[in-house]
Formats: sequence, C-alpha cells, structure tokens
Amino acid sequence: MTILVTGGAGFIGSHTVVQLLEAGHAVVVLDNLCNGAAEALRRIERLTGKSVPLVKGDVRDRKALDALFRAYHVEAVIHFAGLKAVGESVREPLAYYDTNVNGTLVLCQAMAAAGVRRLVFSSSATVYGPDAPVPYVETLPRGRTSNPYGTSKAMVEQLLTDLQLADPHWSVVLLRYFNPIGAHPSGVIGEDPQGLPNNLMPFIAQVAVGRLPELAIFGDDYSTTDGTCVRDYLHVMDLADGHVQALGRLETPGLHVYNLGTGCGVSVLDMVRSFERVTGQSIPYRVAPRREGDLAAFWADAAKAHRELGWQAFRGLDEMIADTWRWQSENPQGYRR
Ligand code: NAD
Ligand code: WQD
Repeated sequence: MTILVTGGAGFIGSHTVVQLLEAGHAVVVLDNLCNGAAEALRRIERLTGKSVPLVKGDVRDRKALDALFRAYHVEAVIHFAGLKAVGESVREPLAYYDTNVNGTLVLCQAMAAAGVRRLVFSSSATVYGPDAPVPYVETLPRGRTSNPYGTSKAMVEQLLTDLQLADPHWSVVLLRYFNPIGAHPSGVIGEDPQGLPNNLMPFIAQVAVGRLPELAIFGDDYSTTDGTCVRDYLHVMDLADGHVQALGRLETPGLHVYNLGTGCGVSVLDMVRSFERVTGQSIPYRVAPRREGDLAAFWADAAKAHRELGWQAFRGLDEMIADTWRWQSENPQGYRR
C-alpha cells in the first residue's frame, strides 16, 4: 500500500516510516517541519535503501493536499501532524485547535474528495481524563480534559467518530498512545525536541549528555510507591509496529479504538535509576514542586490491541533506555550536529 504519513519527519512518524518501509509499504510524507527534520528522512533512506518523498507543506493547506492526492496513489493515511506541548497549548490555544482540529478537518475533506477513506489517528491516553480508574481501558468514556492539547485530541476523536457514523465507508483507527520513548536501535534517528524538552526521557538524556545541568523531578509526595508519578513508557519502535498492524484493521470499515502501552507503570525515580544503571551515566536531580495538571499514576490495559491487532509491546525498559542513549550520545545536538 502507499501510505501518506503526515508529520512523518517527527519523532513517532519517522520511526513509523521505517517500519512501514520494512513491511513493504511505500510512503509519502507531508510535514511543514515546524518540529520535524528533513534530515531524519534522508537518514531513513540510507538506513532502508528506499525512497521517502517529502512534501513540505501544511496539513491545513487544502490545495497542497489536493495536489498530493493527485500526484500519489495514496490508499491510507496515518495522521501524526500536530502540536503536542501541553504547557504551550495553555498559552496558545488557538494555534492548537487550528493545527490539531482544523488540520484534521481539512485533511479529512481532502481525503473524501480524493476517495481515500482509511485513516489512522494519533490520539493520546490524556483523553481518559483525570478521573478514570487505572488501568485505562477503551470501554471507558472519554473524560474531561484539562488543557487545550488534550481537548484537541478529544475533539478530533469526536470529529472522526461523527464522520464515520455519517459515512460508513470510512475506516478509522484511533490509537491512544501512552508514553513513547526510545529510538531506532541503529542510533541514526530519535527524538529531537526543539528548545527545552517537556517530556521526562529527552530531559534525562540531555542531562546525561551534558546539555542540561540537572533534572527537576516534579513532586515526590504523590501516593505512589516512591512518591513520584507513574507512567506507562513504551518503546517508539513498538509503537511504530502498532501502526503497521493497525493498517490491517483499515480493511474493515468502522471506528476502532486501541490503547498502545505496555500495561506496566514506571515511576520517575525508577526511570532515573534505571537510566543510570543501563548507561553508566549519573543523572543529577533535585525534587521540585508538582507540575500543574500531572496525574499521580496511569497505565494501559493493552489487551484489546493484542486481541484484535495481534500487537504487544515487546521491548523492555532497559532496551528503551539503551536505544535512547545510543541516539543521544551519538547525536548530542540531535539532527543539528
Ligand atoms: P513531533 O512534534 O515529533 O511530530 C509531529 C510532526 O508534525 C512534526 O514533524 C511537525 O513538524 C509536524 N507538523 C506539525 N504541525 C504540522 C502542520 N500543520 N502541517 C504539517 N506538519 C505538521 O511529535 P510526536 O511525538 O512524533 O507526535 C506525533 C503525534 O502523536 C502528535 O499528533 C502527538 O500529539 C501524538 N502523540 C504524541 C505523544 C508523545 O508523547 N510523543 C503521545 C500521544 C500522542
Ligand atoms: C512524565 C513524568 C512528570 C519532565 C505528556 C502529555 C501527554 C502525552 C505524553 C501527548 C511526569 C515527570 C517530566 C521533567 C519530571 N503527550 N517529569 N521532570 O506528563 O505523562 O504526558 O506527554 O499526547 O498528553 O501530557 O509525560 O514525559 O512530560 O512526564 O519529573 O523534567 O515525568 O511530572 O510525572 P506525561 P512527561
């Protein structure tokens, strides 16, 4: 199949492009490069020996999308393109609704016009909201959201649900990611956040490589085993495989929702200690106040993805850390070395 990967030059998109190519699919990437790197795609071409055409454009640009659908025989779309920084979304809600919600709307309009009705969407565990019991299971309703980023994901889920209801020819897979970390085992592609990292793993990796002096642990007084927050970290290569497996589900029209996580919780302190053990690097840290909006602990019930997609996260925490460290230590400045 030829797959349009929006946001394919970003963290999860680039790793998914590799796994799509390895599975024998052809790929075209649409990315405006606001948080992605064309260099990632060049490296993927060297890694796989396959070509990865990049259309540099915006997912909100209907004309660019129409031209892309005329130029390529796209059979399905995996839609990663979006903005993802929670704090920034509070300061710039319009940018988040425009890119994430309006971007998906324009994409779906262009897809419908081109007769392409198969879509995999990057959703997030954040849609379960703060009151959901753990582990999160897909039968739970979407909860209230606490920032525009999370709200934009919930709005897109609703938009796609309504679209599929109105036109049952659509096949839509909503993938709710937990906390993706890690990098391709080659060390040639990985996560390359612009500016100060928001997320734990890239922050730790940048401390380890000497770009940042220390980690601030946001709160050690939660009601968890060691007082720090617990999350379900999964390897980005497992997450990428989940997208390849989800393509099979697109053969059946309908709306399909899956959690992609390991089902295991890891605390912030567990992560720091494991990183030190696996890499031999020391991670200086201090305990800082809680970060607004953080939940104490959540992880996935990933049984449905296993049952229906045959997917499961195989790579363990040590492998996630070793692969992150290979990428970060071999590319201390990310793609800008
Ligand atoms: P990323 O920022 O690395 O990748 C997103 C890509 O989309 C970037 O390459 C960026 O340049 C591109 N992009 C942004 N706006 C665009 C636009 N208007 N037009 C075209 N391209 C645009 O982020 P990621 O971590 O790879 O996340 C991918 C998707 O997964 C996002 O939708 C994100 O919300 C979702 N998600 C991420 C996580 C996570 O922890 N990383 C968790 C749950 C869901
Ligand atoms: C993990 C834990 C922090 C940084 C966010 C989004 C979510 C999803 C993934 C897209 C938390 C702690 C972090 C630091 C720390 N994104 N931490 N010091 O918050 O689970 O999820 O990214 O959908 O929507 O909310 O991930 O990596 O930011 O934090 O102590 O410098 O690490 O408090 O407990 P989170 P994270």
